[in-house]
Amino acid sequence: MLEQFEKTGEDALADLKKVTDLSALEEFRIKYLGRKGRITQMLSQIGKLPREQKPQAGQLANKIKNEVTGAFEQRKNTLLQSQQQTGELIDVTLPGKPVNIGKTHVITQTLSELLEIFGRMGFAVAYGPEVESEWHNFGALNMGPEHPSRDPFDCFYIDDNVLLRSHTSPVQIRVMESSKPPIRIVAPGRVYRPDTVDATHMYMFHQLEALVVDEGVSMVDMKTTIEQFIHTFFGPETKWRFRPSFFPFTEPSAEVDLLLKGKKGKESWVEMGGCGMVDPNVFDAVGIDSEKYTGWAFGFGIERLAMRKYGITDIRLFFENDLRFLDQF
Ligand code: PHE
Repeated sequence: MLEQFEKTGEDALADLKKVTDLSALEEFRIKYLGRKGRITQMLSQIGKLPREQKPQAGQLANKIKNEVTGAFEQRKNTLLQSQQQTGELIDVTLPGKPVNIGKTHVITQTLSELLEIFGRMGFAVAYGPEVESEWHNFGALNMGPEHPSRDPFDCFYIDDNVLLRSHTSPVQIRVMESSKPPIRIVAPGRVYRPDTVDATHMYMFHQLEALVVDEGVSMVDMKTTIEQFIHTFFGPETKWRFRPSFFPFTEPSAEVDLLLKGKKGKESWVEMGGCGMVDPNVFDAVGIDSEKYTGWAFGFGIERLAMRKYGITDIRLFFENDLRFLDQF
């Protein structure tokens, strides 16, 4: 009887060695460890033995059973592991990897909203190149080579006559060169300036330009449009003002300030950008009859609009690509 037990154990261990996949392992389990398996049967034989033989047989049978189950478990683990490594086994109950759904940048979102608002007011969208000719960026805008107002703008030259545009106003020129009045466009895009970087300045930022040219266009049209825009974008209670200013390409010119609550609820005037009635010299430069037509234009900083709308206090946050910031919008 004991020899038979030994034989069962040896057979089992030898069979287990031949098992190389999980289905063979299952066959093995049924053959030896299942309800009618050889090991199970071996154990049930002990009960039938005469009392004095029981302890010895029991001990041996238990030892063999433990050996075989131990070896079986080990084999099972190795097989599972190697299958997982080769990717054959997929645990469908594991939680999935979260899919990162992309979204548009807060500046792009702001831009879409701006284009939407101006679209509703009948403005078409125009684009111009970021690498711009000196003529479009300065000359045609009534800023001759010696004009002092070039100073804060003059930068990033590619050669003597080509530079990274310092404002979106050259798009005004391009539109007037290529189309006849009536003109009613907004032009969004990146601009570049030799500004020292701090919380409110960047060497690159975005502007939204507007240009309206038609017969009988007056400053009232400009003021109404800007007011409607501000009240739509910031809310109907928002206070704003024109502050007299100067730009070579508009006459008269103004700066648009918003009265906004800053930190600690204190209100202060914040500059959003410039505007004015198109200077007749600009019309002359593009061949539009300045006796017949008038027009107005503005250029607003998109970052400034977004900062004020969302309470962002540092312009650098827009461009650092920190998802903790970007994910909030
Ligand atoms: N281009 C001017 C600037 O960048 C803004 C402006 C645009 C002013 C249109 C008047 C008219 O500062």
